[in-house]
Amino acid sequence: MSPYRRIYDRSLKDPSGFWGEAAAEIDWGRKWNKALDDSRAPFYRWFAGGQLNTCHNCLDRHIAAGRGVQLALIYDSTVTGTIQTFTYSELRDRVARFAGALRRQGVEKGDRVIIYMPMVPEAVIAMLACARIGAIHSVVFGGFAAKELATRIDDAKPKLIVSASCGIEPNRVVQYKPLLDAAIEIAAHKPRGCIILQRPQGRANLIAGRDIEWDEAVAGCEPADCVPVAATDPLYIIYTSGTTGQPKGIVRDNGGHAVALKWTMKNIYNVEPGEVYWAASDVGWVVGHSYIVYGPLLHGCTTILYEGKPVGTPDAGAFWRVIAQHGVRVMFTAPTAIRAIKRDDPNGELIHKYDLSKFRALFLAGERCDPDTLRWAGTKLKVPVIDHWWQTETGWPVTANCLGIEPLPVKPGSSTVPVPGYDVRVLDDNSREVAPGKTGCIVVKLPMPPGCLPTLWNADERYRHSYLVAFDGYYLTGDAGFKDEDGYVWIMSRIDDVINVAGHRLSTGAMEEVIASHPDVAECAVVGVADELKGELPLGFVVLKAGVARDPQMIVKDIVQLVRDNIGPVASFKTATVVQRLPKTRSGKILRGVMKRIADGAEVKVPPTIEDAGALDEIGAALREVGYAKPRASEGSET
Ligand code: COA
Ligand code: AMP
Repeated sequence: MSPYRRIYDRSLKDPSGFWGEAAAEIDWGRKWNKALDDSRAPFYRWFAGGQLNTCHNCLDRHIAAGRGVQLALIYDSTVTGTIQTFTYSELRDRVARFAGALRRQGVEKGDRVIIYMPMVPEAVIAMLACARIGAIHSVVFGGFAAKELATRIDDAKPKLIVSASCGIEPNRVVQYKPLLDAAIEIAAHKPRGCIILQRPQGRANLIAGRDIEWDEAVAGCEPADCVPVAATDPLYIIYTSGTTGQPKGIVRDNGGHAVALKWTMKNIYNVEPGEVYWAASDVGWVVGHSYIVYGPLLHGCTTILYEGKPVGTPDAGAFWRVIAQHGVRVMFTAPTAIRAIKRDDPNGELIHKYDLSKFRALFLAGERCDPDTLRWAGTKLKVPVIDHWWQTETGWPVTANCLGIEPLPVKPGSSTVPVPGYDVRVLDDNSREVAPGKTGCIVVKLPMPPGCLPTLWNADERYRHSYLVAFDGYYLTGDAGFKDEDGYVWIMSRIDDVINVAGHRLSTGAMEEVIASHPDVAECAVVGVADELKGELPLGFVVLKAGVARDPQMIVKDIVQLVRDNIGPVASFKTATVVQRLPKTRSGKILRGVMKRIADGAEVKVPPTIEDAGALDEIGAALREVGYAKPRASEGSET
């Protein structure tokens, strides 16, 4: 039996034994009673009874083991021209001091702290400082607008918010503070205070009595020690898009998370402690949590915090420069980033400027990876390029090519095989497993392995309803696809209103809620249409109220701005079209899937349930006006 097969089979036959052994890699203050607690199934818990501290396992334990002088964090900012390094000892000291500062502001174990920051070391320090004192952090991505931040403030009810004066995008300085102020104004919950990091690129005005500067907050603070927390206590909450405007607060625990992430570093990514690992993502996304901060530090690696883009900062060689300069062994990014590089440097000429001799593998996730992009990267970089699939909910890969166990042949377009711990099945609507090659809903048989979400923040019922009721005994991933004859998993699409724009997960339902609030709009629909660079882009269809006489172009301009103001620039909502009616079924359901296919120029079968087939022609005409609905070249067209 192959090593992968043996390890995988064991992980499913004896999950408690398998993860119990993996847990030996973590320092526990008190050992757990039982690896898997299924007494409240389907709410499973891992390592109940155990106590640990995640920050201790990320920093102090490595210092005790002699890694104090090794680099823990390299901050490489192409947008400010800064490189700053932190050894494990230096990072621990900064974290302990900031943990003391949080304490001085009244933050205690179990309190929530929202972190709304750009890619600066203080964001990582704030996360680890929360973990150190048992506070629960919730990092909010900087590209979200004030209203999205306000929704998260109202759900997490933070005692404190840590933010910065500004973020830096290549084309502009983004003032964070006005967004923060507006969010607190909108939110019903008011935090007790805010700690603001002043950046020289744009200083913020502070509100007396509420805001305090980072430097002042840490001045004279006693460093705080690690506080033991229960393995099942939350480490963080991360909000992710669901099908409505109310994001889901994914809860991550301490014990299962530490065990699982530590295990992945060797078994999936095949990196050793002491090596440099780089995830080019943002701390606001789950990839940033798991593979900029926690995974590499739990494993004793050097991690890189990169503030910049794959292209334009200054060019499409930026990633290769970072790999060469810092000796990166393994890198993780989104396919979009590679597509952007390929677009600017199609022959990969900039790669030859750098010494990539230490570089061993590139991992891609966050969106479907088209085979062309995967092949291009493999040919140009001459290292294995591994597509792997996971979600905010799981916190670590569900399917992958586990390089540390046994590299399997790569099939471009497939994210390879289930990772040990995940019993991945493909089911039809009647909960029956489908034959190899047949598409169905991708689910994971319960229990999920450690580190996956135990529930949603303060919303057990929403957790059950969103993930567990569709197929009894299984977790619903929300993705559709198939397994082939070799057991490889192919993730093809979502089954809900979630779209993936440049690897960022967004809800078309949330955008529709915003557009519907425009006074001239009677109804609307948003679908994700194929985009060469970003994978998918949102596209809006708007039906105006009877009697509206304004220029439709002005209304479209309004709604584009409305989505930017309410959801944020990250939504990349730039195109909408006004139509007379939306295609619907006789029972009134909007045929979003059909509209998407028309926009993508794919073959469309008119559904028998359609109320008025003429609506489809109208949609096609409107789409052609905004540059969509062009027949695909492969279908014999002139394009
Ligand atoms: N704060 C404020 N605004 C932000 C932001 C942040 N942290 N991140 C992005 N934005 C803004 C951008 O400035 C842009 O605004 P614009 O409409 O005014 O131009 C908008 O949000 C969309 O950003 P982005 O999706 O990054 O697109 P882009 O056109 O600026 O860049 C790429 C294109 C391909 C370079 C970029 O999408 C990219 O780096 N993708 C990789 C994605 C990735 O790593 N995902 C992580 C998941 S693993
Ligand atoms: P997020 O929660 O933001 O990480 O987004 C998770 C979703 O992104 C998944 O449910 C998939 O729809 C999509 N996704 C992530 N990785 C992949 C991949 N390798 N292949 C296909 N889709 C992916």
